[in-house]
Amino acid sequence: MKQAEMTARPLTKGNSILKMSGISKAFPGVKALDNVQLELYKGEVHALMGENGAGKSTLMKILCGVYQPDSGMIEYKNRNVTWKDTLEAKLNGISVVHQELKLSPNLSIAENIFMGTVLPKNKFGMVKWTEVYEKAAVVLESIGSTLDSKTLVSSLSIAEQQMVEIARALSFQAEVLIMDEPTATLTDKEIDKLFVIIDQLKAKGVAIVYISHRMDEIFKISDRCTVFRDGQWVSSMPIEETNPDHLVKLMVGREPKDIFQRQLGSGVQVTEQVPVLEVKGLSDNKVIDKINLQVYPGEVVGLAGLVGAGRTELVRTIFGSVANKSGEIWINGQRVDIASHRDAIENGIALVPESRKEQGLFLDLSVKENIAMTMLQKYSSGGVLNWREIHQEAADYIKKLHIKVSSPEQKVVNLSGGNQQKVVLAKWLLIQPKVLLLDEPTRGVDIGAKAEIYKIIDELAKSGMAILMISSELPEILSVSDRVLVMHEGKIRANLPRAEATQEKIMYYATGEIA
Ligand SMILES: Nc1ncnc2c1ncn2[C@@H]1O[C@H](COP(=O)(O)OP(=O)(O)OP(=O)(O)O)[C@@H](O)[C@H]1O
Ligand SMILES: [Mg+2]
Repeated sequence: MKQAEMTARPLTKGNSILKMSGISKAFPGVKALDNVQLELYKGEVHALMGENGAGKSTLMKILCGVYQPDSGMIEYKNRNVTWKDTLEAKLNGISVVHQELKLSPNLSIAENIFMGTVLPKNKFGMVKWTEVYEKAAVVLESIGSTLDSKTLVSSLSIAEQQMVEIARALSFQAEVLIMDEPTATLTDKEIDKLFVIIDQLKAKGVAIVYISHRMDEIFKISDRCTVFRDGQWVSSMPIEETNPDHLVKLMVGREPKDIFQRQLGSGVQVTEQVPVLEVKGLSDNKVIDKINLQVYPGEVVGLAGLVGAGRTELVRTIFGSVANKSGEIWINGQRVDIASHRDAIENGIALVPESRKEQGLFLDLSVKENIAMTMLQKYSSGGVLNWREIHQEAADYIKKLHIKVSSPEQKVVNLSGGNQQKVVLAKWLLIQPKVLLLDEPTRGVDIGAKAEIYKIIDELAKSGMAILMISSELPEILSVSDRVLVMHEGKIRANLPRAEATQEKIMYYATGEIA
């Protein structure tokens, strides 16, 4: 019966290219997928939806040959297939843009794009690099990127690296293209470009699986969608037959709670008070330029702006990541000298970084060890770690943030993307900072968990913490902040109390429309 629902209505030509059925996959302690199905039509964008840990990435990894399923069948172009590895899947037209960037930083863009393939060689067996670079340039150009294919990946921003991932996936003639949260690190402009590329691929008949936690995107570009919950297939339908509330309900299995809205000034915020954090004339002598700002006790200040405006540089400079800085940082009315992360932490400043993978987590360690890492001081007495206490606190946070783990001993590398983000957050909350700097705290986090994180931010503010939060999602800025600072080209262009802040106003300042 489920099968009948699934093929409810053929789209456009309704040409099925791929059918996965009865797929199950278990990892030690977790049943990641339990008898799920997915059918793709040529030329459609198929959204795969579900909460963090629902099994989306796992199914995609099976489809592209990273994992073998424990059971189930993949029918691709009317024949049953099993892939021995990702290269075999790729050569057969199944390409993937992974959720976590998988590039080699010390190689060039071109080498990354063609990695795992046979490079063109001359008669002496030497790689024809000019040709490789040119071929890479063609792929980059086709996705509207102006990056030089000889550039080392290590010198690229996260958003640029994402574009290289996309170029790599498109370097083959893809017939099925999997995009696992491709826009999480892209700017609005880049997202628009990506959507143009997606349209072109659709027109060529490519079937696209699109995974994203952003509802607006789902309704903008997808033709059909499939929802998973806890490793199980729930439903598949054309996008016109559903709406955001309905989808959330299918994903979480209950009526969606109202979107969390903070009470204005619900923190203790008293502006006559001494600010917890004050920054005077702060520059990193590169991007940010003579920044002045204050964050008062109990206040949540949203930091808006376009990617590249200097928001991340600003919080990193406050956190002591930048060597060559000028200006002053004051904590509770006292000037402090912050030359390193250690200085920052000792002065009560915590930073939840933008890229959890590179800055926040030790992937090979357990959830518990990761959480413990930041609080070694708190828990070591006489050089002995109190693992019992650590275990308890870790367990508390796992529960509080609904982190989906089989046990606190599970390695972080095996968590789903959104759950990794929650571990990063837990780590820094445990040190109970005076100032909490958050850089895109809900990126890749599902809708239910987002609301949880907003609630935690609210509670922290109520306890008197000063919070500075970067977010590229304006609804998030507007629902959480007491005050909004807007950055453009390294400077703060506007300081808006929430009552005066609107999306239009923020965009106006963020795009630098003032002289
Ligand atoms: N290699 C692995 N070893 C152990 N457990 C794993 C492994 N890969 C995934 N899991 C577990 O399988 C479940 C499904 O994970 P998956 O990454 O597929 O979720 P997801 O739907 O992509 O979530 P997100 O939206 O957070 O990316 C999770 O509980 C995860 O911890
Ligand atoms: Mg995932």
